Amino acid sequence: MEKRNGLRVILFPLPLQGCINPMLQLANILHSRGFSITVIHTRFNAPKASSHPLFTFLQISDGLSESQINDAPTSNVMSLLAQINCSTESPFRDCLRKLLVESQESEKISCLIDDCGWLFTQSVSESLNLPRLVLCTFKATFLNAYPILPLLRTKYLHVSASEAEDPVLEFPPLQKRDISRIFGKEGEKLDPVLRIVVETTIRSSGLIFMSCEELEKDSLTLAKEIYKVPIFAIGPFHSYFSASSSSLFKQDETCIPWLDNQEDKSVIYVSLGSVVNITETEFLDIACGLSNSKHPFLWVVRPGLVLGAKWIEPLSEGIMRSLEEKGKIVKWAPQQEVLAHRAIGGFLTHNGWNSTLESICEGVPMICLPGGLDQMLNSRFVSDIWRVGIHSEGRIEKNEIEKAVKMLMVESEGEKIRERLKFLKDEVARSVKHGD
Ligand code: UDX
Repeated sequence: MEKRNGLRVILFPLPLQGCINPMLQLANILHSRGFSITVIHTRFNAPKASSHPLFTFLQISDGLSESQINDAPTSNVMSLLAQINCSTESPFRDCLRKLLVESQESEKISCLIDDCGWLFTQSVSESLNLPRLVLCTFKATFLNAYPILPLLRTKYLHVSASEAEDPVLEFPPLQKRDISRIFGKEGEKLDPVLRIVVETTIRSSGLIFMSCEELEKDSLTLAKEIYKVPIFAIGPFHSYFSASSSSLFKQDETCIPWLDNQEDKSVIYVSLGSVVNITETEFLDIACGLSNSKHPFLWVVRPGLVLGAKWIEPLSEGIMRSLEEKGKIVKWAPQQEVLAHRAIGGFLTHNGWNSTLESICEGVPMICLPGGLDQMLNSRFVSDIWRVGIHSEGRIEKNEIEKAVKMLMVESEGEKIRERLKFLKDEVARSVKHGD
């Protein structure tokens, strides 16, 4: 076991898969450097303590009812998070205060690290005199836009067809049509959240990004100017520790032997992450597009992904039969291992930041199907800046899916994308080595 350094760090992840993974990977990095780790977490989406026997886990009340927790897969994540943010402050304060009172001289609590999406933790840590570091689980470019996002939302609320593809000069490389999709239907509700995140991050002791200069040098410099705190960009965390151990869902391990039976770079992996929802029509279009492409595919259909459905029951027997000829559908996959498999040739993704980084690091080109929020930005970087993927431009339509799969997997455009990605992958890998 690594030598302990006599310091303990308290971590508090936001209860979403895409936020828990980076936080626990960071916990592993810190533990390997000698820090002891305590993770405070909510009952909702509680991480599995048994997968991390070296850390201490403390559960606090989140104020959600049993039915809210059961309905969570199809609920509006933003309103759930807003409720948790209100109901968790007091239990969190009590828990942290108790930890500080009980801490020993031989193992001092050095700081709190929590997600920038927690709105009360800066005030709590100030009142207890504990330094707070903020973990941003998405691209720095997106956090940098927080101060201007409310303004952009109203400015580009209604965009005519003729200007839809125009660049947003205040927020490159976004196009005007992307802005309303960042926010969804009730965008104005996000305005106070964005303001509090900016204010509390400025008051914090530092900002940690799961990113590196090779991906966003200018944004990291700008983050320092905007938030006026020390910035730590420590690379894609999964390059040090896999995200698998922090999976909230049971991973279907049969994916790997199934992939073992496929040809090199022949399979398209399809996953829309842990929070995006799609309509039944979109679901059926993806199914037909994949089937018509005639390429083998591994498709993660998370229970609750399709609005109004439990799992894959909207697929008729006929479509099911044609899908089974070429593909495999699972509820949740060991994604990092899947992307690293020699049989994977492309990733149809919603472009969550974790998925985007995992894809770049494994050299898998992407078809971008962003659902909203920072995914809109990540997908523009993938398709327009790094040029390592094809953008769906919001068209979840069977012919478009089929066309994109063929373009990526067999046509010359796919070849060029793969060459560019090889270069980017090597750059990012070098950055992780340097920062070791
Ligand atoms: C959310 C937001 O959508 C995302 O935009 C933000 O950057 C982080 O929070 P999520 O939608 O879940 O996250 O996407 P993503 O960031 O890609 O994280 C998903 C994680 O789940 C990845 O680490 C991925 O490896 C893992 N995963 C996904 C699995 O382990 N198995 C699966 O079947 C699918």
